[in-house]
Amino acid sequence: MADLRTSFAGITSPNPFWLASAPPTDKAYNVVRAFKAGWGGVVWKTLGEDPPIVNVSGPRYGAIHGSDRRVIGFNNIELITDRPLEVNLQEITQVKRDWPDRAVVVSLMVPCQEPNWTAIIKRVEQTGADGVELNFGCPHGMSERGMGAAVGQVPEYIEMVTRWCKAATRMPVIVKLTPNVASILPPAEAAKRGGADAVSLINTVNALMGVDIDQMAPWPHIDGYGTHGGMCGSVVKPIALNMVSAIARHPATQGLPISGIGGIEKWRDAAEFMALGAVNVQVCTAAMVYGFKIVEEMIAGLSEWMDQKGYARPEDFVGRAAPRKTEWQHLNLDYVVKAHIDQDLCIKCGRCHIGCEDTSHQAISSLKDGQRHFEVIEEECVGCNLCAVVCPIENCITMVPLREGEVDRRTGLKVGGHRTWLEHPNNPMATNPRPAKHAAE
Ligand SMILES: Cc1cc2nc3c(=O)[nH]c(=O)nc-3n(C[C@H](O)[C@H](O)[C@H](O)COP(=O)(O)O)c2cc1C
Ligand code: SF4
Ligand code: SF4
Repeated sequence: MADLRTSFAGITSPNPFWLASAPPTDKAYNVVRAFKAGWGGVVWKTLGEDPPIVNVSGPRYGAIHGSDRRVIGFNNIELITDRPLEVNLQEITQVKRDWPDRAVVVSLMVPCQEPNWTAIIKRVEQTGADGVELNFGCPHGMSERGMGAAVGQVPEYIEMVTRWCKAATRMPVIVKLTPNVASILPPAEAAKRGGADAVSLINTVNALMGVDIDQMAPWPHIDGYGTHGGMCGSVVKPIALNMVSAIARHPATQGLPISGIGGIEKWRDAAEFMALGAVNVQVCTAAMVYGFKIVEEMIAGLSEWMDQKGYARPEDFVGRAAPRKTEWQHLNLDYVVKAHIDQDLCIKCGRCHIGCEDTSHQAISSLKDGQRHFEVIEEECVGCNLCAVVCPIENCITMVPLREGEVDRRTGLKVGGHRTWLEHPNNPMATNPRPAKHAAE
């Protein structure tokens, strides 16, 4: 059976599944229940200075529901912990003492002054915690006070605060990044320059969930007024994957350990983050929506899949997919696929036809002998995948690559070349333009 033990920035845990800093890790009661359920580690809900902040006493959450009421996007306007610092520190000390094999990392956010960071880190050190995570990500409330994303959006501040923290402690320092930036690379590079042992990402995405058009106010609202919050859950996973892979691939940040966060619900989501370079993962929304026991499926699913693939330890596949992410200009323009409809699975709903007819390439016919029948017209199909995306039946439409030497009936060209945009004759900037293989060759 696969060994799921993980070492992230020197912090060991029995599996790579950690709970992210958020309500699931707000107090010992929750964390102990999480550890009993099997979570490998937690990042404690962000601590701040006393007196504690005050949260709204009204709806602090919003959601985007799928048609089956599943929560696919989640939003919050909650701030950092609203409990006294000493209470949190005592509970962290006790939890770490009782659960020595689990990772206990403490998230921190204090005003942007060196004495404030040094003072709180020294107190956290006394708890026996395994490390600290610097919260440079919260996009609402705290950022208005010059903390959270207000720091995470300025690389110079990230570097400066990280340096202060590294100077103040021997504990590993993880920098948690905000996705609310034009590019994730400058903040990640700044964290590395400041001496960070690792980065974690993403924190929540700036969002306004909706508008109550009866009250004429953003939704959810507090006494008639709403505010933007931070969005998370499944809908943000693609944003997170893109940013994780950017850091994993870029020469300036390559090798910096990454904790992947954002929309992880199942073992497969975790495996995707890890394949792109995350050493471990953190989960918040899925635990809030489904409870702590989801970790059982994550542990069982990941280890079963690793066994099937012959991966003995997570290191065997971490980062394996990262080199396969490239820029558009390096994609093979001579690679050709065609849509194929499995007539036995087709329920003749016509969605593929209407999508292709109205908005793509008019490449799916809808009638045969006067009857509803949906078939791909290869001469028109550009292989765009829209039909497969809109088809309600899984695997009914598949995208089939043409084999080497076959002729693409749309272009009349033989398949088998390998030209990127950099070699394509239509590119006026091409340095080494090469003609296509032609059917007549
Ligand atoms: C209600 C709520 C509160 C959160 N509070 C914090 C926090 O105190 N500190 C922090 O670093 N991130 C906080 N987060 C962000 C999460 O740790 C995580 O980065 C984000 O939710 C993305 O992960 P997910 O898609 O699994 O939820 C919070 C998220 C939610 C939903
Ligand atoms: S792949 Fe695109 S072009 Fe081809 S049939 Fe489907 S929707 Fe039409
Ligand atoms: S969308 Fe799928 S099920 Fe519907 S007609 Fe097209 S192939 Fe058949």
